[in-house]
Amino acid sequence: MDLDDCIKNRRSVRDYLDKQVEKEKIDAILSAGAMAPSARDTQQWRFTVVEDRERIRMLSVEAKRNLGLIGKGLQLAEALKAREDTIFYNAPLLIIVSAKKDDKWAGIDCGLAAQNMMLKAYGLGLGSCYIGLANSLNKDSKILKDIGIPDDYAIISPLIFGYPVKWPEPKTRKPQVLKWIK
Ligand SMILES: Cc1cc2nc3c(=O)[nH]c(=O)nc-3n(C[C@H](O)[C@H](O)[C@H](O)COP(=O)(O)O)c2cc1C
Repeated sequence: MDLDDCIKNRRSVRDYLDKQVEKEKIDAILSAGAMAPSARDTQQWRFTVVEDRERIRMLSVEAKRNLGLIGKGLQLAEALKAREDTIFYNAPLLIIVSAKKDDKWAGIDCGLAAQNMMLKAYGLGLGSCYIGLANSLNKDSKILKDIGIPDDYAIISPLIFGYPVKWPEPKTRKPQVLKWIK
């Protein structure tokens, strides 16, 4: 697919069909992430792929709990029983991009990898959305351990992917140039 088309028409998707993403497409998304530029070419990003819908739903509940959205009226046990996944929008695929906590460029590097991945996904006919709210999972080291993220790593870019129920309308955005010096 044409790069201009991907850049212009990619939008965040928050409603997904109940359909798994094919393995070849997941591999292609990961490869696109790995091709991003990184400070000193250190490629510090690490990818955690979660296809297990139940696990994604549990992570959604945990993220909400860490954000303080659960506790007042809703008890954790009730929330775990509830079917809704408000953080990850019932997406069939979650890819968490993490990096070493002490890497000062990690936020930028993982963000660049994330954009490559979301553009690649669009080119493959998949919707995506960056889920910054899921960074709240960093508050609970046990959860990170459970999904295989080492102690010295932190979640930087949680990303969801899947086939959209419908595509959001493309938007027009104008560059805001502070000054053009000739
Ligand atoms: C760092 C970052 C964090 C974001 N976190 C969330 C989030 O937690 N939940 C969500 O629904 N969208 C999230 N988004 C998506 C933005 O809301 C979205 O990119 C923005 O509204 C522009 O819309 P577009 O992606 O359709 O162009 C996030 C995007 C970025 C870049």
